[in-house]
Amino acid sequence: MESKDKVVLTYGTFDMFHVGHVRLLERLSYFGDRLIVGLSTDDFNARKGKKAVISYEDRASILRSCRFVEEVVPEKCWSQKVLDIRRFNVDVFGMGDDWQGEFDSLKSLCQVVYLPRTIDVSTTEIRANVLRHSA
Ligand code: CTP
Repeated sequence: MESKDKVVLTYGTFDMFHVGHVRLLERLSYFGDRLIVGLSTDDFNARKGKKAVISYEDRASILRSCRFVEEVVPEKCWSQKVLDIRRFNVDVFGMGDDWQGEFDSLKSLCQVVYLPRTIDVSTTEIRANVLRHSA
């Protein structure tokens, strides 16, 4: 019997792509053979009250250029995770540990992992630093 590729799935906005993102994607990629990123669309972010500096299309291009990422798909709503896990035959669902416990309900469908965030870097902090330096 042929063994199938092990598929890993994560979600996020990945605005102003930074080293915390790179390290998360690198560590997640080691859980399997293919890492798929569900990238929050600008519409979905607007509904969450979040506005990315970089457009969806550009964030997707940046992510696709990352060697740890195999595929980028749009994340349009909260409820699509179950459908995506089934559609992509996902083995491992992973997020940073700021989401610890939030997606435990998916454990009936696949392995769920929360990885430690890289300390001292976030999109929010970079934005604040840029504003401080330009004031
Ligand atoms: N992440 C991480 N380490 C960081 C920042 C983010 O591991 N220092 C992870 C998050 O836990 C998440 C993914 O990267 O699983 C995407 O996070 P995102 O919210 O897009 O990035 P943040 O920098 O946390 O953005 P914000 O400050 O807007 O929340």
